[in-house]
Amino acid sequence: MPIGVFDSGLGGLTILRALQNRLPNQAFMYLGDNANTPYGTRDAYDVFDLTTKSVQTLFDKGCELIILACNTASASALHRMQVSWLPEGNNRVLGVFVPMIENLTQRDWGDNAPPTHTGLENVAVFATQSTIESAAFPREMKFRARDVEVVGHACDGLVDAIEAGDEAESTTLVQAHVNNLLARLPNPQAAVLGCTHYPIVEDIFRAALPEATKLLSQPGIVADATADYLDRHERYKETGITQYFTTGEIDKVGKLAELFLGHPADWRKV
Ligand code: DGL
Repeated sequence: MPIGVFDSGLGGLTILRALQNRLPNQAFMYLGDNANTPYGTRDAYDVFDLTTKSVQTLFDKGCELIILACNTASASALHRMQVSWLPEGNNRVLGVFVPMIENLTQRDWGDNAPPTHTGLENVAVFATQSTIESAAFPREMKFRARDVEVVGHACDGLVDAIEAGDEAESTTLVQAHVNNLLARLPNPQAAVLGCTHYPIVEDIFRAALPEATKLLSQPGIVADATADYLDRHERYKETGITQYFTTGEIDKVGKLAELFLGHPADWRKV
């Protein structure tokens, strides 16, 4: 069965692309909830309802392993899904936060030892409003690492500017958002782009951040973590192509998706 890759819309394609590069023979099934995007300005109840609906669609289409390639869904819905929604059996849902925290703290998720000093003192997190409000990143970080200051910033407007392909507006917004965060944390040791759209403007973030700040690129980190997971859970491996589904209008989605994918794709409506 293909691995399901879910996002609120198009941003998850940045993760899908990295997964395709890392696992060229693996079958994937992408689903973008373009009819209800964006999730980043919705409350946690809404995000949970919409995410579970789409994840159920992917389960119904035969996926057993699903990657929530959406930080907002991973932050606001995943924990609740895992404790109270997921059916018994082999169906699994993984988020995109855990690999980032593993990478930052150099601690495996399965390592249940108490939090330790990992050498990380502070980290900047750029994300949507819902992700920042969920406080999921600082909460998960606290389970692993001691005395880490997490400074989050909601990059209002940036998802829209990226989807519109408006480079000038994206540049202005990234610079303003980075400056806002730097006023609170002048020299972040590390910075996380905690929104699947932001890798499209990673170079602008890189230029706006201090040179010494380590910038974590989520797609590559998630792809490596997925490859590692599949080596430990071979039952989810399957050779095949990628199928593309959307809840939105296929013509409009197909056109915009090229910006994220770099090539045309055959979109179908669910
Ligand atoms: N995919 C979302 C994320 O990574 C961004 C787009 C949205 O707000 O729906 O947070």
